[in-house]
Amino acid sequence: MRLLTFMLMGPLAWWLAAMTPLAHSQTASAAAQLSAYTALAGVPAQAGRGEAFFNVRHGRDWACASCHGAVPTGPGKHASTGKLIGPLAPAFNPERFSDVAKVEKWFRRNCNDVLARECSAAEKADVMAWLLTLRR
Ligand code: HEC
Repeated sequence: MRLLTFMLMGPLAWWLAAMTPLAHSQTASAAAQLSAYTALAGVPAQAGRGEAFFNVRHGRDWACASCHGAVPTGPGKHASTGKLIGPLAPAFNPERFSDVAKVEKWFRRNCNDVLARECSAAEKADVMAWLLTLRR
């Protein structure tokens, strides 16, 4: 059953996320991507686990927080170049999670830097569930 749900819901959820009109509020687009990752993961997302994942190092030099800040409601600073990074929490940055391809590209690059592997769908869902709890 889990496999069937994965096979049916994964692509469907991705399609829904990709088709979510940009006119929707920012958090709506982020919420659609959270649903897509959750469907792929096959387990419920947990914001608390996402917060912990974001703030610890995974055997390498950086945590996600090293560049984005521990609570990414304000600007972050790139840990090696010092370049400013806009807030990651979607309620604080209208550009976040509006482009599925961009989100995937940065998850891939950042997870490789932090974990030396890609993040799983469950890890991405946890982080996004937490980011969506950060409100003004
Ligand atoms: C070495 C610095 C660095 C680290 C560490 C880092 N990031 Fe990023 N991240 C960036 C930069 C730079 C961008 C792209 C610039 C921007 O979007 O402002 C970015 C963009 C993103 C985006 C794109 C969101 C969007 O729609 O615009 C996501 C998602 C993301 N990071 C998540 C993570 C997660 C999760 C981790 C930990 C596994 C992490 N980042 C660790 C630097 C970093």
